[in-house]
Amino acid sequence: MEKTINITLKIWRQKGPKEKGRFEEYKLNNVSTDSSFLEMLDLLNEQLINEGKEPVVFDHDCREGICGMCSLYINGHPHGPDTSVTTCQLHMRKFNDGDVITVEPWRSAGFPVIRDLMVDRRAFDKIQQAGGYISINTGGAQDANAIPISKEAADEAMDSATCIGCGACVAACKNGSAMLFVSAKVSQYALLPQGRVEAAARARAMVAKMDELGFGNCTNTGACAAECPKNISLTNIARLNREFICAKLKD
Ligand code: SF4
Ligand code: FES
Repeated sequence: MEKTINITLKIWRQKGPKEKGRFEEYKLNNVSTDSSFLEMLDLLNEQLINEGKEPVVFDHDCREGICGMCSLYINGHPHGPDTSVTTCQLHMRKFNDGDVITVEPWRSAGFPVIRDLMVDRRAFDKIQQAGGYISINTGGAQDANAIPISKEAADEAMDSATCIGCGACVAACKNGSAMLFVSAKVSQYALLPQGRVEAAARARAMVAKMDELGFGNCTNTGACAAECPKNISLTNIARLNREFICAKLKD
């Protein structure tokens, strides 16, 4: 049988990037525990619109854990209290009747607030553009066995490529570091022969762009990996550091 709960939401409201923000409190009743967190916010917005108030702005797209848009900081955790899920995959059954739920945008110098819960994450696109592609001519499609790749390397590259660029790692880090994201993007290519050709240049360019855009330094606290919805491993950061040192030695 469907269960419903009554909750109180403390939501960060901010009219624009240069405006001063503040928390506002809303009561929301009869929320189905089967609904997703974003469906619950849809309900809230319906309620606000019916009351003639401004709906809460929040980012989302796929609503199935693929696009990385749903960047919400819920009760002190990026993507909320569940593990290995994005905000859109979080369900209200994780909360109890009478709960007070605090919802904030990502807090990072690299991700300025646009409005309410929506932040500007274009910095990640810029980092990726700085080095996250392969510029060599790979020619026509090859036979599957023409370039031998070990199962371990293929698996690790695929694991790294599951990073959806959501930015939770930055929001979780006390330094606002983007190392987990950058290391995943460097690793997904560096582990494969086609990507190795430019691995050093890619690491150098992406780290330089990350520093330029105001992300902090990594001090190995591991908060990023603990909160990452895709379980991106810290070993990627070790690989990025190796690639970066090799690039510097070559310089
Ligand atoms: S490393 Fe994890 S937390 Fe960081 S952007 Fe990628 S998926 Fe999101
Ligand atoms: S809306 Fe796409 S990952 Fe959540």
